[in-house]
Amino acid sequence: MEIQIQKLRQAAEDAIKSATTNLKELDDVRVKFLGKKGELTTLLRGMSQLTAEDRPRIGKIVNEARTQIEKLIAEKNAELKEKELQNKIASEKIDVTLPGRKIHRGHLHPLTLTLNRVKDIFIQMGYTVEEGPEVETDYYNFEALNLPKDHPARDTQDSFYITEEILLRTQTSPVQARTMEGHEPNTPIRMIAPGRVYRRDDYDASHSPMFTQVEGLVIDKGISFADLKGTLELFLKQMFGSSAKIRLRPSFFPFTEPSTEVDVSCVMCHGEGCKVCKGSGWLEILGAGMVHPQVLEMSGYDPSKVSGFAFGLGVERIAMLSYGIDDLRLFYDNDVRFLNQFN
Ligand code: FA5
Ligand code: MG
Repeated sequence: MEIQIQKLRQAAEDAIKSATTNLKELDDVRVKFLGKKGELTTLLRGMSQLTAEDRPRIGKIVNEARTQIEKLIAEKNAELKEKELQNKIASEKIDVTLPGRKIHRGHLHPLTLTLNRVKDIFIQMGYTVEEGPEVETDYYNFEALNLPKDHPARDTQDSFYITEEILLRTQTSPVQARTMEGHEPNTPIRMIAPGRVYRRDDYDASHSPMFTQVEGLVIDKGISFADLKGTLELFLKQMFGSSAKIRLRPSFFPFTEPSTEVDVSCVMCHGEGCKVCKGSGWLEILGAGMVHPQVLEMSGYDPSKVSGFAFGLGVERIAMLSYGIDDLRLFYDNDVRFLNQFN
C-alpha cells in the first residue's frame, strides 16, 4: 500500500507539472486524484481493510500525499491564472506607435471647381446668385425672351419637351425674366444664375445634351455695351490669365440687341486648329448682348428709363480651356483616373 501511495503521489505530481496550457487541464488533474471518485480517495476507502496497527501510519502517509498534491495544485493554479492574465493583457495591447489608417476623402468635380471660380469672380464684382427651375415653361424659356411660338431661332435650341408648354430649359436665360419679375420695376439688378441646361445636341468633344451655363444680367440707368465688354474682359482675364486672347463676334439672339458671341483662343492647339475648336483656333464660350427693349418691357421694366446687358457662358468650355482638356465627355464619363487629377 505504501508503494501504491508513493506511485500515486508521483503520478499526481507529474500530471500537475505537465498541466501547462490552462486551468481546465489542471482541474481535470484535481478531479482525477482528489475528486469523489478520484484515485487517492478510492485508496483512502480501502484503508478499512488495513490492520489497526498499519492504519495510523498509512493514514498519515495518505494525508501527507493529499496535502502535498493540494499544495502543488494551488501553486500551479496561481501560476496558470497569472499566465492567462498575461496572455489577456498581451492580446488586448494597443500599439500606439502604429500609424493611423488614412481616411479616404473625396473631392470636388472639375466642373464644380470651375463653377465655383466663376461664381467667386462675379460675387467679388457685387453680383447676387439667383436660381431657376430646370423644368421650365415655354413662356420663360422662349416667349418672355422675345421668341414667340413660330420664331425660327427656336430651332437652334432644340429641346426635350415634356408637354407642349413644359420643357427642360435650353438655356439659363429664363432666369432673366424670373429675376426681373421678382424686382420692383426699374430697380437695379446685378445677378448671375448658374445651372444645368438641356438640348438635343450631339455628344462630341465640345458638346453635350446636358451642360452647365452661367447667366448674367445687369440692369441700371445708363448701362452700355462698353460696360458689357469691360465686364467680360475683366472676367475672362481673371479666369484665363492676362495673356488669354479674346474675340468678340457679332451674333444674333432674339433677346439681345446688339448681340455678340465671345471666343477664347484654343488652349489645345494655340490657334492652329484642332478637333476641340473644330479647326478654327477659337473656342466659343459665351453669348451676350444688350437686353432687348421688348424683353425689358415684358418683365415690367421701362426701356426708356433703364438699360442692361446679359450674357450666358458655357461652364464645360471654360473648364476645358482652364485645365487644357481636349474632350468635354471626360467630365461625364466618371473615370476615376481622370477625376483623381483634380484632388
Ligand atoms: C445661349 O444659350 C444664350 N442664352 C446666351 C445668351 C445669354 C446670349 C444672354 C445673350 C444674352 P448659346 O446657345 O450660344 O447661347 O450657348 C451659350 C454657351 O453655352 C456657348 O457659348 C457654349 O459655351 C455653351 N454651349 C452651347 N451648347 C453647348 C453644348 N451642347 N455643350 C456644351 N456647351 C454648350
Ligand atoms: Mg452660340
